[in-house]
Parts: sequence; structure tokens; C-alpha cells
Amino acid sequence: MAAREIRTIGVAGLGAMGAGIAQLAVEAGYEAIGREVTDDLGAKARDQIAHFLQRKVDKDQMQAEEREAALGRLRLTTDLSSFGECDLVIEAIVENLDAKTELFAELERIVRPDVVLATNTSALSVTEIAAATSSPERIVGMHFFNPAPLMPLVEIVRAELSSDDAVETAFAVGERMGKRPIRCHDTPGFVVNRILIPLLNDCIRTLDEARVSPEDLDTALTAGAGWPMGPCALLDLVGIDVHVHASEALYEKLREPRMAPPPRIVAMRNAGLLGRKSGRGFYAYER
Ligand code: 3HC
Repeated sequence: MAAREIRTIGVAGLGAMGAGIAQLAVEAGYEAIGREVTDDLGAKARDQIAHFLQRKVDKDQMQAEEREAALGRLRLTTDLSSFGECDLVIEAIVENLDAKTELFAELERIVRPDVVLATNTSALSVTEIAAATSSPERIVGMHFFNPAPLMPLVEIVRAELSSDDAVETAFAVGERMGKRPIRCHDTPGFVVNRILIPLLNDCIRTLDEARVSPEDLDTALTAGAGWPMGPCALLDLVGIDVHVHASEALYEKLREPRMAPPPRIVAMRNAGLLGRKSGRGFYAYER
């Protein structure tokens, strides 16, 4: 099945993931329209993208003109109707089923009927999101990994009613963004999180069982298992709240005890120790 031609990509939600996805889009030569709820949040995302592209220029990985051109392809809006001209929309808003189904219902009213709508959800069901729309065949998952500009994988998730055309279109966009896409079905956690979430929960339990410090646990997994970063540093990067939510969602669906978030990390979430984004998680960060 041939993928269709995509020129303009809408990205709904410009948090850590959405900003990274918008960066990938403009770097790959797409026009991108990024939508946030306030101008300030949009400007913050643009600053972040401009910063990371500048680092690439500084390191001779990109020409200054290429950076300017990429930033010139990024348009910001607070108005979802600006997505009317998009050929593909990638949703990266809060991990809440009601918020997502509401957004997809609005998108259906705004975009052309043939436009593929992708969700970057990490733990919700793409099929459930699609079921709330009147055109579930055009809904797929495009699950990027944090930090999206650096992690090569994107999971292209086929929901129960996704069309081949929608799946292949998303796959081709992933490839053009320089990613290594894989195709998978819409099962809880898809591929990586099905394995990584319980593994990270085991790491947190090991902190208490083996009475090691977060630093030593991170050393154990980097120096002893070849992980690029330790589990505590990774949880701080992903966000403690994001991890707890994903764990709860997987536990709810699979009922496997290892999926349930350990009390220690739930307490961190409740205390606002969210990792890098809040300035403190397992480690403290300069803000
Ligand atoms: N966005 C864009 N560019 C970024 C960035 C970001 N968020 N963060 C860093 N960069 C750029 C910076 O410009 C940086 O260069 P600089 O420091 O000179 O400015 C450049 O990338 C390289 O950064 P690092 O030196 O930090 O790169 P490393 O070689 O140390 O690798 C890493 C960083 C890729 C994050 C590596 O440590 C790694 O692979 N960690 C594991 C990450 C992982 O497992 N992610 C998956 C999490 S699970 C998930 O996302 C699923 C979800 O559903 C929860």
C-alpha cells in the first residue's frame, strides 16, 4: 500500500514530546504547525527547538542557513482550526483519554477526510481513542521516545480499524524524519513500554530491597548492564508523573503486579518530585 504525500504536519501539544516531534518535522523539511493552548507555551517550545538546532550548528552538524530555514517552517498557533491545511496531525497532549477523544473529535471537524490522525500516546489504547471518532480507519499511533529528537525508534501502532494506508503513511513519515520505525499492534504498552515499565518498576523496588542509593543503582545499570543512562536518571528524564500514569494504565489492563507503580514513586509524584521538569526527582537539577 503506497503512503500518501505529506507536506504539512500539525503537532497538537508542544510539551517535551510535541516540541521534539515538531523539531523532527521541520528538520525533515516538512512545514509544521504547532498548537499550544497559550502563546507563552508555544514560544517556550520554539525557544527549545531553536536552542537545540543552535547546538547542532555549534557542533557543525547543521548549517546556520538550514537552521533558519527549519525554524522558518515552524508556525505556532493557539487555534486548532489552523490545522485545516495539514496532511497529517500528530497529537501529543496530556495523557488523558477524555482530553484526547475531545481533541480528535474537533480534529475530525477541521481536517480533510483523508488526513491521517496519529496519537503519540504511550499507555492509552489507540483503538479506544479511534473508537470515539467517526473515522477510526485513519487513526494510528506514532509513539516517539524521549528525547524524541535523539531516540531513533518510533512505534507505528495499528489499532483494530486502522487502514493500511494510514499505517504506511505514518511509517513513511517516521522514516523521512530519520527514525527507525517499527510496526506493531495496539496492545497495552505496545512493544517498548510493555517491557520497560515493569523493568523500571523493578529498579525502584531494588532501591529499597538492596538498600542502594539512586546513584549506585544508576552506576550498576550503566556500568554493569551497558544502559546509556541509569534507571533513576531515566525516570527523571521521562517524568515521574508520566511513568506513574503509564504504570497505572498498564496495571489496569494487564493486572500483572510488576506493572503497578511502587509506592515510593507514587509518593514522589504526589510530592511534586517529577524529575527534570520540576527541578527535583531522584536527583536535583538547575532550573
Ligand atoms: N531535544 C533535542 N535535542 C536534545 C535534547 C532534547 N530533549 N536533549 C539533548 N539534546 C541534544 C543536545 O543539543 C545535546 O548536545 P549538547 O549537550 O552539546 O547541547 C545532544 O542532543 C546530545 O545530548 P547528550 O550529550 O545528552 O547525548 P548523549 O549521548 O548523552 O545521549 C540520550 C543522551 C540519547 C538521552 C541517552 O542518554 C539515552 O539513550 N538515554 C536513554 C533514553 C531512553 O531510554 N529513552 C526512552 C524513555 S521511555 C519513553 O520515552 C517512552 C514514553 O512513553 C514514556
